[in-house]
Amino acid sequence: MMMTSGTEIQRYRDTEVPARAIACYRASTIVFFSVLLFIGCSPLEKEGPVVRRVDTLFTPPDTSTIPHDATGDMIRYGRELLVNFPYYLGPKGTVGKFGGNGLGCQNCHLDAGARPYGLSYFSAHARYPQYRAREGRVLTLADRVNNCVERPLNGTAMPVDSKEMTAIVLYMKWLGKDVPVGGHVPGDKLKEIQLLDRPADPNKGMVVYQQHCVRCHGDDGQGVLKPDGIAYTYPPLWGPLSYQPGSSMHRLIKSAQFIKYNMPFDLVRWDTPLLTDEEAMDVAAYVNDDKMHTRPTADLSMEYPFQKEKPLDYYHAPYADPFSAEQHKYGPFKPIFEWRKKNGHPTGY
Ligand code: HEC
Ligand code: HEC
Repeated sequence: MMMTSGTEIQRYRDTEVPARAIACYRASTIVFFSVLLFIGCSPLEKEGPVVRRVDTLFTPPDTSTIPHDATGDMIRYGRELLVNFPYYLGPKGTVGKFGGNGLGCQNCHLDAGARPYGLSYFSAHARYPQYRAREGRVLTLADRVNNCVERPLNGTAMPVDSKEMTAIVLYMKWLGKDVPVGGHVPGDKLKEIQLLDRPADPNKGMVVYQQHCVRCHGDDGQGVLKPDGIAYTYPPLWGPLSYQPGSSMHRLIKSAQFIKYNMPFDLVRWDTPLLTDEEAMDVAAYVNDDKMHTRPTADLSMEYPFQKEKPLDYYHAPYADPFSAEQHKYGPFKPIFEWRKKNGHPTGY
């Protein structure tokens, strides 16, 4: 458990020698002082201080600071639901039956949504209600939670005024209490990866899977249930008990971003990736390949009522751009990105 206060900022990767200072130093040995001034180097920079490039990550408040009152009890309950969703609200849930498979929120939203770049909930409360292209309307945070109950969990929406939904939203509010309203903080989104110049290759991905994933998620991608048969030790990545098409995790870029900075689970965090960008894209293509693997079905016909708002890696036609469904699924994405930019269409993924 982290012992930091809510407003504290975690610092990492803090040393980088400034390339410009070195360049200027070298230049000074061969070029006149006046020329140095002209190109913007100060002679002082010869021995100038090492500039520290600091990436600041949002640090969520420590759970020990949750107040000991009625509100605090609800925050703790919300967190407990997000950590152990299948026990309370899964198909065998003791409080209600909303999840349709054994997946829990924490299988994707790591550490109760408190892990940077691990699908954290840092800014979720601060950014909702918001317009959602998939529905073509404004959703509340409770609606967005229900999206994940319905898609990755292949279940049915929870009542938005239930005690459980209130507790979940309250926990997210507490977790992001230091996030400016409407804003993002470092670590809330998935970490960016380089888009490839070729389509992602599921066959190459299969090799990556055998090497780095199979020992936990299994040969058949079905994962491993806990002995109680209710929740997973290793969640399934495809098959009838996995996430639906239409889940964001079924989109190539999102999935690859998650995988690269979080998997293999026992070795990798955002700051210790193991796969290259290519390997992450290829293995995401393998996991999400609809010819090699099955998944529950879903009716996607009502999604993205405005075609040009479909994310780059959304793989169901029709599109407002001239690229094929195949290219939207596997890439290369750069030509789609460029075309959309040129034509004033949204370029998100
Ligand atoms: C199979 C993986 C998976 C599971 C399981 C899952 N989610 Fe998600 N969730 C995602 C992905 C992927 C996104 C999209 C993140 C993005 O757009 O960058 C998301 C987005 C969200 C968001 C919006 C976050 C934001 O900041 O915009 C919320 C809230 C959320 N999920 C809640 C839940 C809850 C609650 C559960 C359990 C009932 C759950 N999710 C289960 C994958 C999952
Ligand atoms: C050491 C075991 C282990 C290895 C190896 C591993 N994972 Fe995972 N993976 C997990 C666990 C555990 C979770 C769920 C995290 C949690 O519940 O806290 C998970 C979650 C996931 C999820 C999100 C949940 C879901 O069901 O979709 C994806 C996607 C995923 N892993 C893909 C991969 C890929 C791809 C690889 C190989 C590059 C890999 N994992 C390697 C243990 C592992």
